[in-house]
Amino acid sequence: MTRITACETGALADGEALKIDTPDRQIALFNIDGTFYATDDRCTHGNASMSEGYVEDDGTVECPLHAARFCLKTGAALCQPATEALRTYPVIISEGMVYIDLE
Ligand code: FES
Repeated sequence: MTRITACETGALADGEALKIDTPDRQIALFNIDGTFYATDDRCTHGNASMSEGYVEDDGTVECPLHAARFCLKTGAALCQPATEALRTYPVIISEGMVYIDLE
């Protein structure tokens, strides 16, 4: 398993997202009401960055390119044009830091 250090918990405000580059992929990290979610950054429909999407209070993110919405907890695609789920990753909070398990 590969665990990466994403950021300090205070570095990502409520309703914001952050793109994290790793050697083999890009991850989008979201903060909704103090709960952190991690998904693949690339939309499953096309070449859009989900960390640039619109984070909603209901735990979803809207793709900035064609407005597909995804559940941040499960990654499920909730509306067209996306049909494939975003991959999600476990997030661990410890001593004020956010970690993401990649495998
Ligand atoms: Fe995300 Fe088309 S690229 S909905």
